[in-house]
Amino acid sequence: MIIQTNISLSHLNTLGLQSQAKYYTEIHELQELSELLKEESVKDKKWHVLGGGSNLVIPHLVNGLVIKMANKGMQLILQDDEFWYVKASAGEVWDDFIQWTLSNSYFGLENLSLIPGTVGAAPIQNIGAYGVEIKDLLWEVTAINLLSGLPEIFKNSDCHFSYRESFFKQAGSGKYIIWDVTFRLPKKNKMHLEYGDISKELQKQSLEINPQNISKAVIKIRQSKLPDPKIIGNVGSFFKNPIVTKEVADALLLKHPNLVHYAAGDKFKIAAGWLIDQSGWKGKQLGPVGMYEKQALVLVNHGQATADDVWALSNQVRADVKKQFGIEIEPEPIQW
Ligand code: EPU
Repeated sequence: MIIQTNISLSHLNTLGLQSQAKYYTEIHELQELSELLKEESVKDKKWHVLGGGSNLVIPHLVNGLVIKMANKGMQLILQDDEFWYVKASAGEVWDDFIQWTLSNSYFGLENLSLIPGTVGAAPIQNIGAYGVEIKDLLWEVTAINLLSGLPEIFKNSDCHFSYRESFFKQAGSGKYIIWDVTFRLPKKNKMHLEYGDISKELQKQSLEINPQNISKAVIKIRQSKLPDPKIIGNVGSFFKNPIVTKEVADALLLKHPNLVHYAAGDKFKIAAGWLIDQSGWKGKQLGPVGMYEKQALVLVNHGQATADDVWALSNQVRADVKKQFGIEIEPEPIQW
């Protein structure tokens, strides 16, 4: 285990923010993490765990210790008549894991194709897309308790998942490092075609309906709507879609009949992209950052931006949406 000093993080966060870590280390084996936890020189430092850096806004200078998770491994650990149980290490790239499941005919995660980031980061914000969230298929998480240094198992219900939220983002934040994640995938897979343009895309490409082709369609849709972080820095959706009561939704609909909204239990989810678009921010810049021209929910870095630039734009967009619609929108990425 080697602790490096003054390491640039600019290529390790998909927003491409200029940032430097005072202390930095990479973890490949559990043994290295155990050693790190015993290391006196890092005990008093603030720890930040880094996966793919795809849901993060990091400051110009990170004073504490950045721990990059680089443990690898994917395997089928068990199967019975009904389910496959597949486990992946935190440091695996999420989409590599999805493609591995599909190539082995373990189906169910296809709608979550091409979401940037690592397996270890996926439970933190309960990643979701095209009608599926990982909480629907996650079986358990192994996380290392930073106080005891011991692994703990979190069953699905222990993770307290909700829309883009979990125990690890709330009460468990800073207390655990996710080590691996196990999914339970039903052998009688129910395919989800109802959301977005998946059916249309399958037809367009003359593809039969199967999980591999759903993955292909999702990849095509994502590539057409969302900017590639390798070309233009971004973290996918920058804001969460706000959830409001029926009364609030009804009142908004009276004033704005075109409001894009979806039922979410007895509440309603409002498309934050629509709110931002209507507020005039789509394709507009403030300093080196802006809201993406093809999807107003995505904040993009046009070059050399810092976290301060990001928060200045975020605050301005939030204030304008609040002024026009009376609704609070909350940022989705984690702030160090
Ligand atoms: N819209 C506009 N203008 C825009 C953008 C969107 O009017 O500039 C309206 C359109 O009517 C569109 C609707 O908003 O139909 C919803 O947009 P979209 O289908 O792109 O979905 P979203 O609600 O913006 C969510 C997730 C995405 C996920 C997609 C597909 C959140 C915060 N975002 O986006 O997740 O890929 O659905 O399931 O829930 C992410 O979290 O990083 C992410 C990309």
